[in-house]
Amino acid sequence: MAYENIRLEHDGAVATLTIDRPKALNALNNKTLQEIEAAVRSLGSDTRVLIVTGGGEKAFVAGADIAEMASLSESQAQEFAALGHRAFALLESLTIPTIAAVNGFALGGGCELALACDFIYASEKAQLGLPEVGLGVIPGFGGTQRLTRAVGRARAKELVFTGARIDAAKAKEIGLVLEVLPAEGLLAHCRSVAAKILKNGPLAIGKAKRVIEQGADKDLTEANTLERQGFAELFGSEDQREGMKAFLEKRPAVFTGK
Ligand code: CAA
Repeated sequence: MAYENIRLEHDGAVATLTIDRPKALNALNNKTLQEIEAAVRSLGSDTRVLIVTGGGEKAFVAGADIAEMASLSESQAQEFAALGHRAFALLESLTIPTIAAVNGFALGGGCELALACDFIYASEKAQLGLPEVGLGVIPGFGGTQRLTRAVGRARAKELVFTGARIDAAKAKEIGLVLEVLPAEGLLAHCRSVAAKILKNGPLAIGKAKRVIEQGADKDLTEANTLERQGFAELFGSEDQREGMKAFLEKRPAVFTGK
């Protein structure tokens, strides 16, 4: 499929989704959100890790498109937020690992896009934040909720109330970003993490992701029940048989995802 504002590239089992509207610092307009949704939907079972990044030199994504938003009515704003929520929920619901490679400004909707990924690596020049209150609105693509879950209420409130931009080092300090890399090494780092993931059983990774996600908002007893079920369900899969057989035969496992 031909896209206007994004690129979706496949390198073996690793797909890279690049938000690519550098003239507007990759701001998310309606079309871009629709293309993100379509791209995520198009991923087949041959893709086992997704990296999300920004095109050009300056930005991951500088937010929702302010020029497009400026004159929205309340009901149009509802629809716009619903589109963003749908696209990011779809991204979040993927069973494969998703890695945000934050290569520059990740503000507003850009920070929210990164937060919808499993984890975030950032370049030294990245700046993150939710500056929406400075525009007289609040984050509208899940930021108030996902940031709170990622860094806790007080930090989330501080960032949302001040609208402050934080650098990559600060983002790492508060647990928003996992690692800070030199700009030129960011994608290579993401790909090397993807390569480590690809050595493991795809069914197990998908199950681990689901159990972590679903368990996070439950009490420990209920959450551990999910883990127990997930653990048991993998027994009898080809991946479980192969993984354990390979260990006992002292050879690398060859997983099929079945
Ligand atoms: N929407 C639309 N256009 C944007 C944009 C955005 N979010 N961010 C940047 N641009 C455009 C600029 O208007 C400019 O376009 P022109 O060249 O046509 O004037 C171009 O991208 C380059 O931007 P700047 O000249 O501003 O670049 P800079 O280096 O001086 O500043 C910046 C960079 C600090 C990121 C600044 O562009 C900025 O503050 N952008 C807006 C950030 C923001 O407020 N994001 C939140 C949006 S609201 C939101 O996301 C709501 C939600 O949760 C759903």
